[in-house]
Amino acid sequence: MLKDIERVLVDEKQIDKINGELAQKIMKDYQNSTKPLIVIVILKGSMIFASDLIKKLDLPLEIEFMKVSSYGAGTKNSGEIKIHLDLARENLEQYDLLIIEDIVDSGRTLSRLTQLLKNRNANSVKTCTLLDKPSRREVPFTPDYCGAEIEDEFVVGYGLDYDEKYRNLPYVAILKREVYS
Ligand code: IMP
Ligand code: MG
Repeated sequence: MLKDIERVLVDEKQIDKINGELAQKIMKDYQNSTKPLIVIVILKGSMIFASDLIKKLDLPLEIEFMKVSSYGAGTKNSGEIKIHLDLARENLEQYDLLIIEDIVDSGRTLSRLTQLLKNRNANSVKTCTLLDKPSRREVPFTPDYCGAEIEDEFVVGYGLDYDEKYRNLPYVAILKREVYS
């Protein structure tokens, strides 16, 4: 795998620091809330990030999963999101929802998901992403919590994949262009 890596963009120490800072902000915002918090882990990409982040959240919370896809084997957004696994919850007005995503690119996935869950009358819906590529936005969307903004580079590792691979790298790295072009 290492031969496919151009360079490490966010190393393990930086990731840990980012997660600590995100956790502090999230705890501050939710510490006095009256509704139970459900953290929604967006499979598969945010699995590793979410598992590290929630360990730093000293808050009562519940975990749920959703699986959505917007990318196939390529790196271009198809313009649609598909829900492969839906939230296994009803009566969302009783909950605050925090969606955990690995990266925001065009903005379509999170803007659609947020809208969907708001339409189901959740008490609140917020989003937390490890990474954001604001220069790639195609629809207006701003995450409530963002670990780091990055340039327009295709990154892998720490949950992020290219063609389902590289998710297990412990850091976020830029993939060599020849690997995906
Ligand atoms: P959006 O709907 O365009 O914001 O796409 C978000 C999704 O695209 C993320 O959940 C990732 O699965 C995927 N994605 C976007 N950029 C990257 C990247 O640089 N590496 C790996 N996956 C990416
Ligand atoms: Mg994803």
